[in-house]
Amino acid sequence: MSIGSLFLQLFLGLALLTGLAEPDPDPLQDFCVADAKSPFFLNGAPCLNPSLALSSHFTTSALTKPGNTKANPFGYNVTYLTLANLPGINTMGLTMSRQDLAPNGLNPLHSHPRASEVTICLQGALLVGFVDTSNRLFTQQLGPGDAFVFPRGLVHYVYNLDSRNALAISGFSSQNPGTQIASRAAFVSNPLIPDEVLEKAFQISKNDVAKIRKNLGG
Ligand SMILES: *[C@@H]1O[C@H](CO)[C@@H](O)[C@H](O)[C@H]1NC(C)=O
Repeated sequence: MSIGSLFLQLFLGLALLTGLAEPDPDPLQDFCVADAKSPFFLNGAPCLNPSLALSSHFTTSALTKPGNTKANPFGYNVTYLTLANLPGINTMGLTMSRQDLAPNGLNPLHSHPRASEVTICLQGALLVGFVDTSNRLFTQQLGPGDAFVFPRGLVHYVYNLDSRNALAISGFSSQNPGTQIASRAAFVSNPLIPDEVLEKAFQISKNDVAKIRKNLGG
């Protein structure tokens, strides 16, 4: 094989790989503060006229307050930066969140279809894990300052082993990662997945299906 064709193969291989791992589309301007009043639906949000952009569009205190971990049976709460509380993230290809966990609180099995996530533990003892498409579990225990990365789209969880509240901050590779909670998607979708489908899928009885739905508030 000639050097030229070797380079061509390498180039095409890299182009394919980077193409498959594409983040949000690149912005075509310095910034595009989300215009909350625009009537249009776009991929992202339409831009406010740049001459109307303010410093306040690029700052937020949304992550200063802990979320309410008692509003759900799992004992966790995730607060995201969004176009609503930080319009300056529009088209930047990223967002952040804070994750509050009660003692032994769980951020249950879930996935983000549009983003990889890197989480740093600030407080608590966090047992984290994700499962890849061959069903292999990658798991780690994190203390304050430790970080972990969850690949895009893979099912993962965060559990607080500590008897005190825990706090973690996450960065995401999309302005709109999306979150799908596995148990809720399966058992309390709207409308509901037929019982017989769940009975077969999980090898459980009709009573089990009803019980899990009830436990999840369905
Ligand atoms: C998180 O807390 C907010 C209030 O701080 C509450 O409105 C919301 O329902 C909570 N989310 C969950 C998943 O419990």
